[in-house]
Amino acid sequence: MQKFTIINGPNLNLLGKREPDIYGDEPFEKYFQKLKEVSDTISLDYYQSNIEGKIVDFIQHAGFEGQGIVLNAGAYTHTSVAIGDAVAAVPAPVIEVHISNVYNREEFRHSSFISPHAAGIIVGMGFHGYKLAIDHLIKLARP
Ligand code: DQA
Repeated sequence: MQKFTIINGPNLNLLGKREPDIYGDEPFEKYFQKLKEVSDTISLDYYQSNIEGKIVDFIQHAGFEGQGIVLNAGAYTHTSVAIGDAVAAVPAPVIEVHISNVYNREEFRHSSFISPHAAGIIVGMGFHGYKLAIDHLIKLARP
């Protein structure tokens, strides 16, 4: 069975409680359970960490073991050379997702260390962006 992994970065453990006007009022775990049900022909894992090095570890593991990663690195997107390097290092395709439209927010959110190495980028589509990313990874894995 093909294996895909969703990795969420810092403060995304607070989804549902954090700035609901920007990120919505649903906890990510609840959405993930629904996503797992509609994607029952694949294996889908979910990791979240607030710690940069742990996110690097998750990318390395999932990127060599699985067929694709959906990565929302949160604020580390805009600051982390190490996470960008990890995305470049792994053979599996990585789709960068942002729940909010980072381009209509503060200017520091317009740059990404991940985008140059990503197979694709989805912004501003809420949680639905994760589903779109998984659908695309499935397509890449089974052309
Ligand atoms: C985010 C956008 C980032 O700028 C922010 O730091 C986040 C969430 C998003 O999903 O919209 O934590 O990645």
